Amino acid sequence: MKYLITGAGGQLGREWVHYARAKGYTASALTSSDLDITNENWVNKVINHEAPDVVINCAAYTKVDQAESEREKAFSVNADGVKYLAEACEKSGAKIVHYSTDYVFAGNLSDREIYPHGYTEDIECNPANVYGKSKQSGEIALMGSGAEFLLIRISWLCGRFGSNFVKTMLRLASEREEVSVVNDQFGSPSFAGDVAEKTDALIRKNLRGIYHISSIGELTWADFAEQVFLEKGTGTIVKRISSDEYPTKAKRPAYSLLCNKKMEKAGIKPLVWNDGLSKLMKQLNEVEN
Ligand SMILES: NC(=O)c1ccc[n+]([C@@H]2O[C@H](COP(=O)([O-])OP(=O)(O)OC[C@H]3O[C@@H](n4cnc5c(N)ncnc54)[C@H](OP(=O)(O)O)[C@@H]3O)[C@@H](O)[C@H]2O)c1
Repeated sequence: MKYLITGAGGQLGREWVHYARAKGYTASALTSSDLDITNENWVNKVINHEAPDVVINCAAYTKVDQAESEREKAFSVNADGVKYLAEACEKSGAKIVHYSTDYVFAGNLSDREIYPHGYTEDIECNPANVYGKSKQSGEIALMGSGAEFLLIRISWLCGRFGSNFVKTMLRLASEREEVSVVNDQFGSPSFAGDVAEKTDALIRKNLRGIYHISSIGELTWADFAEQVFLEKGTGTIVKRISSDEYPTKAKRPAYSLLCNKKMEKAGIKPLVWNDGLSKLMKQLNEVEN
């Protein structure tokens, strides 16, 4: 099976390249300079030339706050780019694996009571910010393309490559004794290594449709930070604050837990979030040493 990874220079893209190499898979890794997915001709040329069995689309516009003022750019990558890739895959017969986000859901705190086990794959989307809307448009384009697809929603992505919450907390812990972190947004992290592994399991089981991949357990960002400091042994104090005390340009979901049960029913066991974090901390130490 030949894989083609787009957005190979990003957090998840780099993890996928690492995973594919470790497995000894045949995989082409294309960064944004090797393939700009917003260029339809380029997309068609590359897919025809490479003739992959599976395209793993890790390319995305992910600047959540900036998207509020760069709507066109966000939609160009997250909606048009996905459409071009999906259509090219449909024509060539390749399967497309595309990543989306918890941000496609409404994210209201009241949903925590309605869906205590998290949003399931079939719940209607109603994103609260431009980034979420652009990702929802990508989902719609993918599903309407006629390509064989796996649409994988992930949340709070953290891995050894690129920047993410865990790395930011570790940096802050090296600079100060107390860190303020929001304590009124509830969700669960997806660990990049785990996402690559579980995506591959879904591919190898020849599954299609929508799946959520995140960890077991609901937490707030403050809980997450505390566990990071505990794991690292920094002794850093977490000051629990509200979202109002940390205003952002784009509205963040108060609740964005993704339900993992569909994946579990497919025989793929979700990771408990603390275990995922321990694994990531080990990977980060290896990168450091
Ligand atoms: N990060 C999270 O917390 C999170 C949460 C939920 C879901 N997700 C989803 O998970 C996926 C991976 O996210 P990530 O954190 O790995 O993102 P990332 O680190 O921002 O990587 C995205 C990659 O896409 C590339 N890219 C941007 N525009 C492109 C274009 N027009 N053509 C080709 N490549 C392009 C970027 O390249 P340049 O840097 O060169 O522009 C970058 O390497 C995305 O679909 C994202 O929406 C992420």
